[in-house]
Formats: sequence, C-alpha cells, structure tokens
Amino acid sequence: MRRTVYVLNGPNLNLLGRRQPEIYGAKTLADVEAECRQAAEAAGLEIVFRQSNAEADLIGWIHEARDEAAAIVINPAAYTHTSVAILDALQAFDGPVIEVHISNVHRREAFRHQSYVSLRADAVIAGLGTAGYRMALRYLGEHALPSS
Ligand code: DQA
Repeated sequence: MRRTVYVLNGPNLNLLGRRQPEIYGAKTLADVEAECRQAAEAAGLEIVFRQSNAEADLIGWIHEARDEAAAIVINPAAYTHTSVAILDALQAFDGPVIEVHISNVHRREAFRHQSYVSLRADAVIAGLGTAGYRMALRYLGEHALPSS
C-alpha cells in the first residue's frame, strides 16, 4: 500500500492506438501499461493499472484506492471536463494525485480547457504523449513517496 499507485484510465482509452492516432499516437493501452510497469519497477513502485468507459467504475476504484494506494495517476479522458463526481471522489483520497493527458488539451477545443480534476490534482501533465504516465510515476517514486 505504501508504494502502490493506482493508474486509472477513463473512457475511450481502451481504443488507444486505433483512436485518432494523429492526436493520441500509435501506442495501445497495453503498450502504455507495459511502459508503466517498467517505469514503476525502476521507481520501486507497485502499480494497479485499470481502464473503464464507465464513470461509476472509476469512482469505485478511487474509493478502493483510499485503502489500497499511496497515490493516484489518472487520465480521466472526457470525464475530466464533465465529472464533479470524479472530483469529489478524488477529494476523499488523501495521497498525491497526478492528472495525465496524452494530448495538450489546452491547444484543443475550448471545452477541453476546463478540468474539474485539476481542482484536486497536485500536478497535471498534458501533451507529452503516453510518456506523461512514465513521467508521473518517476516523479512519484523520486519525490512524493518516500522509499523507506
Ligand atoms: C485526453 C484528453 C481528453 O480531452 C479526451 O476526452 C480524452 C483523452 C488525453 O489523454 O489527451 O479522451 O484525456
């Protein structure tokens, strides 16, 4: 638990690699998971990596993380811009929260500039492609979660 990080992914991210590759790149979610596992191992972290298209699943996993995880890395996908419920669930989590977006949401449509999740996130990474997940894990390993 002390060095376990929940890496949570929202709707449509199961289609990574096939979905708008000009925006989200060619890597699949399985590729991203493999890269996160490598980065976590290098950082001395355990990860639980999950994706759902359902808001209720994401909320349930955030609740679970209260007991099971020291930190959360979350790409809430479209729920970023709409979900007060995910914000509220994250407000009930005590550890560090890093919000990740593959694309630079600020260079896109105006509705993507608003993030409810950013009201809780300790850090936001956007526009680094899928490398953003690895950066988040590396940061957590080096700065946020003490190793002893
Ligand atoms: C996203 C950006 C969101 O605006 C979009 O709805 C997504 C993915 C990203 O990773 O760039 O599904 O979170």
